[in-house]
Amino acid sequence: MDSIEAYIERNLTEKRKVHTYGVAETAQRFAARYGASEDKARTAALFHDMFRSTPQDALNMYVRQLGLDSLYLDNANLAHGPIAAVIMERDYHISDPDILNAVRYHTTGRAAMSLLEKILYLADAIEPGREYPGVDEARRLADESLDRACLFSMERSVTYIRQRGLFLHEDTIHARDDLKDKLAKKGDSNGL
Ligand SMILES: [Fe+2]
Ligand SMILES: [Fe+2]
Repeated sequence: MDSIEAYIERNLTEKRKVHTYGVAETAQRFAARYGASEDKARTAALFHDMFRSTPQDALNMYVRQLGLDSLYLDNANLAHGPIAAVIMERDYHISDPDILNAVRYHTTGRAAMSLLEKILYLADAIEPGREYPGVDEARRLADESLDRACLFSMERSVTYIRQRGLFLHEDTIHARDDLKDKLAKKGDSNGL
């Protein structure tokens, strides 16, 4: 089995490669800032979009072969994280559950996310190549509070998904509500 870097070179589009390395750098920076393992953050980032350039019919084949939930069929946006988590364990022998969960939930988030899960979620949303309304505010928040920045980013995703009538995974709602509760309990919601 090739290294993940060799896999990235061979399988990802140029745009996705640049994104992946941007996420890796950003995730490492957050790990240093918030006290997580820089190594784990980099590993999770390098693997997180390994199936993001894979055609839909191949993704559907993985969903069936790996016995994943049928809601992932014909939904590349949701399927690429869970598939990557299974393959990196099976083929790359990465067994750290926190790294696997960070990759598995990087698109949706979930309730009670670990530090590493939040780091990957946020690095994915605000790496230097990302451009969308609100990204600068998310970057500013990310230097102050990982929780506030994640909540900001999730609120934006929920609005975006609803406005476009896309499928909203319940894990995203749970992730957002959980962070909201947590920040409100700390008296740190600041109108978010
Ligand atoms: Fe992704
Ligand atoms: Fe990504």
